[in-house]
Amino acid sequence: MIEDLTFTRRDLPRELEIQVLAFMRIVWSDGWPAEDRSRTRLWEDDRAVHFVRADGNLLVSHAQVVVPQLERGGRRLRIAGVGGVMTYPHFRGQGHGSAVMRRTTEHILTDPSFDVGMLFCEPEVTPFYERFRWATLPAGRVIQLAPGGPEDVVMTVGDATALPDVLRLEWSW
Ligand SMILES: CC(C)(COP(=O)(O)OP(=O)(O)OC[C@H]1O[C@@H](n2cnc3c(N)ncnc32)[C@H](O)[C@@H]1OP(=O)(O)O)[C@@H](O)C(=O)NCCC(=O)NCCS
Repeated sequence: MIEDLTFTRRDLPRELEIQVLAFMRIVWSDGWPAEDRSRTRLWEDDRAVHFVRADGNLLVSHAQVVVPQLERGGRRLRIAGVGGVMTYPHFRGQGHGSAVMRRTTEHILTDPSFDVGMLFCEPEVTPFYERFRWATLPAGRVIQLAPGGPEDVVMTVGDATALPDVLRLEWSW
């Protein structure tokens, strides 16, 4: 039976973590940093939350909220970073990705510790996120400085005015 589950990073079952990581290695290998090639654990983030649809140990769909530690002008940016949005191929087009993104978005909009949610995606996927009130930022508002980093569009939900006029990021999530 496919269930909706939510885990903190600490509580995320190892079987599910491995499936998240395997999907990332296969599907997003372009932006995979060389130093992470032998990575067997997700990047450390005590505040990360995982929104999952799973059938027992079998991962169907996933999205995570990470909390990047970013300060600009002496002010901490209260950004919820969304990443790892995935549905395993056999289960696509059945509403699982939407269910996971709806819960992820709700979490961001109701957690007072965040001003804004942010994600990076290919332009073709923006209609998927627009269904959950995410909007594309104008080009140049967020600049990714990582060499070889993804040339994705940046989408936000919540209060994008909380961001600096131009946000330069050395890495993204
Ligand atoms: C994007 C993704 C997570 C959607 O998962 P899913 O479980 O198939 O999503 P749903 O079944 O809830 O689809 C909802 C709607 O979004 C649309 N949609 C799904 N994937 C889409 C995509 N890549 N681009 C545009 N629209 C998409 C579907 O057509 C569907 O529309 P419908 O309800 O009118 O049929 C899944 O296709 C996936 O894992 N893709 C590969 C990884 C990826 O690109 N992740 C996003 C990284 S930013």
